[in-house]
Amino acid sequence: KARKDHYPAPYALIDLWVKYGDQSHSMMTQEAKSVANLVVGDTAKNLVRTFFLREKLKGQGKAPKDAPPIKRVHVIGAGVMGGDIAAWCALRGLHVTLQDRSHEVIGRALKRAAGLFKKRLKDPLRIQDAMDRLVPDVPGHGVARADLVIEAIVENVEAKQGLFKDLEGRIKEDALLTTNTSSIKLETIGEALERPERLVGLHFFNPVAQMPLVEIVHSDKTDPAAAQRAAAFAKQIDRLPLPVKSSPGFLVNRILMPYLLEAVLIHEERVSPKVIDKAALDFGMPMGPLRLADTVGLDICLSVAEILSKELDVPVPESLRVMVEKGNLGAKSGSGFYRYQNGKPLEDKGGEGGKAPRDLTDRLIGRLVNEAVACLREGVVDNAELLDAGIIFGTGFAPFRGGPLNYANRLGVDNYVDKLQDLEGRHGGGFKPDSGWEALAGG
Ligand code: NAI
Repeated sequence: KARKDHYPAPYALIDLWVKYGDQSHSMMTQEAKSVANLVVGDTAKNLVRTFFLREKLKGQGKAPKDAPPIKRVHVIGAGVMGGDIAAWCALRGLHVTLQDRSHEVIGRALKRAAGLFKKRLKDPLRIQDAMDRLVPDVPGHGVARADLVIEAIVENVEAKQGLFKDLEGRIKEDALLTTNTSSIKLETIGEALERPERLVGLHFFNPVAQMPLVEIVHSDKTDPAAAQRAAAFAKQIDRLPLPVKSSPGFLVNRILMPYLLEAVLIHEERVSPKVIDKAALDFGMPMGPLRLADTVGLDICLSVAEILSKELDVPVPESLRVMVEKGNLGAKSGSGFYRYQNGKPLEDKGGEGGKAPRDLTDRLIGRLVNEAVACLREGVVDNAELLDAGIIFGTGFAPFRGGPLNYANRLGVDNYVDKLQDLEGRHGGGFKPDSGWEALAGG
């Protein structure tokens, strides 16, 4: 799967064997040369950085002293997220009760869980054990015994507030109370609680089993020990915790959205989705932005974009609204920027899709990097390393580039600001360099 221009090492290794495999002496000399070249290359340096970034995230998950262990989890909402979070917790050995309004919804989640257990555990006894640990619970009996409650119901303020109000009187004294909200401020949900300091955001990404990052969201009101316990829980279930401040889009969606929206704007300029996505893949992203938007669902993209546009300067492209109004929601509706059948992309036999504008890649990545600098300035995360780590493990941002801030640093902060100013001149205010660049230039 590795591309030679991004990951040269496996190709260099094969080359060695092809050229010198039958001459043991020159093989060693050539290998020394080849490895020396690779080790000082950008890819190796950045991948070493990425390795330590992962370690740094793991280091965020130290349990606070004397914190009670988390053995029983109660998940409320058995939809896309809650169902998969519950399954993942059961896979990792926890006892889980899963609540929703009907048995049918929970049944669908259990079916997906069985598929996950089968794939990961293989052994029928272990699969059965995991299934036994995941208990459907429509009346919500599990609440009273849970060490941790995870709310993953619909994204609606009143619904969540109502639920938390009811939960507060029923949970154990030392239970941890969390929400998987992706866009509602923790402060707003917390208004329903007598003790809002207990509430922490535990923001998983979709699909839960494949996305290693969990944002641990805290507000000014959150008890730091509760946030620390939530981070330790993420590590306990083998996920990477990233502490973030409660602010619109937290870190990952906030940075991803301008990049996706820029792709939509470029598409409005009649550049084909194929060309746009290819530029992102060539840069090293795991998926092009328009394919990603189709996969997430254009309605979800639109609602996140609208929330961000209210609080930040992120205009929503008109064409996105029109597509959603027409019911073109991406993979789930059969058509979006691409066409799909039963959720699977239809093979496109068309050619390259036209010529790419010269500044296409810079436009896509420039928006993302500029937003990253804004997040650092605002203190959404504590430091540049955590930011790069969050974007690599939360979005798959080209690991061999070591993160968006590392990428800009390597190109030179002044050069990057020049590039953004140039783009601003041609494409408008979205590229106006954030004031946070000044601090980076000084550092
Ligand atoms: P969904 O619509 O698939 O599932 C929500 C479930 O909650 C439904 O099954 C519904 O029956 C149930 N529900 C609603 N009110 C309830 C109540 N009072 N008691 C018990 N069950 C109730 O939604 P989805 O996508 O799983 O989202 C859930 C939460 O996760 C939202 O806050 C969303 O913002 C967040 N989230 C979603 C992501 C995604 O990609 N879908 C990613 C990260 C977070």
